[in-house]
Amino acid sequence: MIFISTAGKVGAEAARLLAGRGVPVRVLVRDEGKATELARAGVDVVRGDLGDPATVDAAVKGASAVVLVSPAVPAQELAVVDSAVRAGVDHVVKITSKASADSPIARRRDQTEIENGLIASGLGCTLLRNNAYMQNFLVLAPGIVKADGFGSSAGDGRVGMVDTRDVAAVAAEIAAAPAPHRGKTYWLTGPESLSYADAAAVLTKVLGRRIAYRPLTFEEQKRAMVDAGVPEVVAGMNAQALSLFAEGDSDWLTDDVPSIVGRRARSFEAFVTDHAAAFS
Ligand SMILES: NC(=O)c1ccc[n+]([C@@H]2O[C@H](COP(=O)([O-])OP(=O)(O)OC[C@H]3O[C@@H](n4cnc5c(N)ncnc54)[C@H](OP(=O)(O)O)[C@@H]3O)[C@@H](O)[C@H]2O)c1
Repeated sequence: MIFISTAGKVGAEAARLLAGRGVPVRVLVRDEGKATELARAGVDVVRGDLGDPATVDAAVKGASAVVLVSPAVPAQELAVVDSAVRAGVDHVVKITSKASADSPIARRRDQTEIENGLIASGLGCTLLRNNAYMQNFLVLAPGIVKADGFGSSAGDGRVGMVDTRDVAAVAAEIAAAPAPHRGKTYWLTGPESLSYADAAAVLTKVLGRRIAYRPLTFEEQKRAMVDAGVPEVVAGMNAQALSLFAEGDSDWLTDDVPSIVGRRARSFEAFVTDHAAAFS
């Protein structure tokens, strides 16, 4: 059985893919009402909370592999690692980002703490250090619907965005057959590196109406996110990440998705086409 620690964008899709392949898969959720489709797809949905180690222990029991994905609070993810050690898990696939101990972004430093704890646990593991998610554009969708445009402090920086469905496909593939991936780190990206102006052009082409890109300052970016309901600390980290995009920090591409799943990574155009209703 494969245990997936949350049912967010990556976790839910990985669970669906594994269940579709007939692989026993269990996912932890706080609210079973949000996971009825997963249960219908054959996923073993169990209620719990990453902040409650007893529920995590119960959920990990019997797992051979774990997909470790969550908002990446170190105490919570490291508790999952401890549970996995106690349960005799063989392999952990850790969803992470461009982590580094000296990053200006607290979330990336937290990811390093988790990566290091996982490696020190002695469990077999694979790190998926993903570029920014295309699905971040879904947060901008209501503004795009309302105003045919979006703002960002990403400047002219290019980003090798990856579709979370491809992250999930890679995680599922490795969790189902970990041996060749043990001890490896993959850097998942989409097939092309795009600026936010390029993204606006793709949205314009697919949606059939002009979508404008408006550059924002760091402060404008942070305020826009806080106004949209993002907690201040998270908005600050997101705005920091977008400022790094502007400096070219995320302008990198790899072939890791196609080399692991045996097909091309989804393009931003395919992502917008598949989510056109959300932008319309
Ligand atoms: N966004 C990006 O561009 C990007 C890029 C690279 C890497 N990453 C990494 O990707 C990871 C996030 O993955 P994602 O996008 O799949 O997540 P997501 O869609 O934001 O979903 C997070 C999930 O975690 C659940 N959750 C939160 N706290 C929980 C708790 N205490 N107990 C149980 N479940 C809990 C949420 O459940 P509820 O529905 O109950 O809230 C939700 O299902 C992070 O590690 C992030 O650093 C993100």
